[in-house]
Order: sequence, then structure tokens, then C-alpha cells
Amino acid sequence: MPAAVIAVANHKGGVAKTTTCLSLGGALAEQGFQVLLVDLDPQAHLTLSLGIRPEEVRHSVAEALLAQKSLVAVSRETQVAGLDLAPASGDLVILDKVLYGHRGYEYRLKQALERSSLPYDFVLMDCPPAFGTLTINALTAADLLIIPMQCEFYAWRSLRSVLELVTVVREKTNPSLRYRLLVTMYDMRSRVHRMVLDQLRRLFPQALFRTVVQVDARLRESPAHGLPITHYAPRARASEQYQAVAQEICACFSVPSAFLTGSAQIAEYSVIA
Ligand SMILES: Nc1ncnc2c1ncn2[C@@H]1O[C@H](COP(=O)(O)OP(=O)(O)OP(=O)(O)O)[C@@H](O)[C@H]1O
Ligand SMILES: [Mg+2]
Repeated sequence: MPAAVIAVANHKGGVAKTTTCLSLGGALAEQGFQVLLVDLDPQAHLTLSLGIRPEEVRHSVAEALLAQKSLVAVSRETQVAGLDLAPASGDLVILDKVLYGHRGYEYRLKQALERSSLPYDFVLMDCPPAFGTLTINALTAADLLIIPMQCEFYAWRSLRSVLELVTVVREKTNPSLRYRLLVTMYDMRSRVHRMVLDQLRRLFPQALFRTVVQVDARLRESPAHGLPITHYAPRARASEQYQAVAQEICACFSVPSAFLTGSAQIAEYSVIA
């Protein structure tokens, strides 16, 4: 089976894109899958959260985007069995600007993924908080887009923009892009959070992951230990919640999962009422 390619993106900053990438990577690896994490953010938070210093990275994902090296050649093992990383480096800042000048820049990552047969079941790509060339590359290459979002009042505006981008990407470079929404940092004591979650459930009954990731301080600690929550604090609430999201993802791709109980369909919604 070719690797299932998943982008984690939202141009809004601080909505748990990197945390979601890392935690889902840990959860899928824990279930016995081979997983490649791709750090497409010049901030290199995913790389840092696995205990790797970007300034010491010799080969980064930038070289794969420039077709100088294969994605496998720039990837490295992490402390977690089954979880590899194509790290970011400072080069990504410049690359984001340089790529604009190149015809067909949107397909660089897709080509890098297709160039060699990847020994992975899942590829998870962490995007920067912007709709630049790197995010467009991720959405062009992806089978599935996960949109992490908080249940804040302003979340609607950014969700609308992300879904508009999905429409453009489907028209131009990736007609089969599917998406799902993931509620993160949910606080059930907050009236606004409860209200927004209710609205999301009504408007996106199938595109919304059934699992909601609640606020959990242990998620803030795990990057300091270079580990996903699933390996840093396996019994933590957030660890169990990300495990449940991983099961829903397996259902999306009809991949048998150790804990799979049902199958989910991704609904196609491109506008918000
Ligand atoms: N469920 C959660 N509970 C508590 N803290 C969380 C949770 N999810 C993420 N965080 C924390 O929120 C902060 C932002 O998360 P993260 O860096 O994953 O967001 P991001 O969307 O990748 O940000 P950026 O847009 O800068 O890339 C981090 O300090 C992270 O540890
Ligand atoms: Mg991030």
C-alpha cells in the first residue's frame, strides 16, 4: 500500500498543528505503523520537539524540495521506534521565497514523495502558520488535510479561509484532497467552547473528528523531553485522545487498526453556512 499522506495545516498560529503532528505520529507508531513526520515549518518546532536542533541538521527537507536528495535520504530516526523525521532547517525560510519563482513549484513535495517508494504507512506534514509555498506543496501532495482548530469565537474566520484554500487547491493542483476538522485545546468549562463545538457538530457532522482533544498541560511538557505525548505520558488524557484520533484516521484510509471499532467516511463540505 502506498503511504497515506496527511497535511496538518491552518494559517492561524498556535492552534496545535505541531502538537497534533507529533502526537498522531507517536500514536500511529505505537500501533505498529511506520510513520514519517515532515517538518515544513521554518520555525522548526516539530524538529525541536523531537530533540533535534535545526542548526545541527545536515540534511533537511529543503534538499528534498529542491530535488537534491530523496526524502528518504534526508530522513532520520527519532527516539521513538517506527517514527522518522524529515527535519526542517533555516534553509526553509529562503526556500519559501525562492520557490515562488519556479513554474510548477506546487508539485515539488508531491514529486519528492513519488520519486522513491517510501517505506512508510503514513506521512504527516507539519505546515507553517501561513498559506505560502510550503503549505501549498503540502496540500498538493496530501490525500487528507487535518485542520486543527480551537473553539474560539475567531476560529470561524480562519476556518472559512482554510476551506476557501481547499477549494482553490482542489481546482488547481489536487482534486481529490479531503479534509477533516480537529478540535484542540477544548475546555468544557468554557461556554464559548461548548457553543462553538455544538455549531461545528451541526455544520460538519462527518468532517469533524468525533474525538475532541482537551486542554492537557502534559502536552506542553512532552516536547521538552523530545517525545510525543504517547511516549512521554501514555496514560495522560491527551495521549488517549490522540490515540482515538489515530483510530479515526485509520478508518478514513480503511487501514486495519489494532483498536479499530468502526469505519468513518469523510464528508465533503466546502462552505460554511
Ligand atoms: N491540548 C492542549 N492542551 C494544552 N496545551 C496545548 C494543547 N495543544 C497544544 N498545546 C500547546 O499550545 C501551544 C501551541 O501549540 P503548537 O505549537 O502545536 O501550535 P501550532 O499551531 O503548531 O503553532 P504555530 O502556528 O506557531 O506553528 C504549545 O505550547 C503547545 O504545547
Ligand atoms: Mg507549529
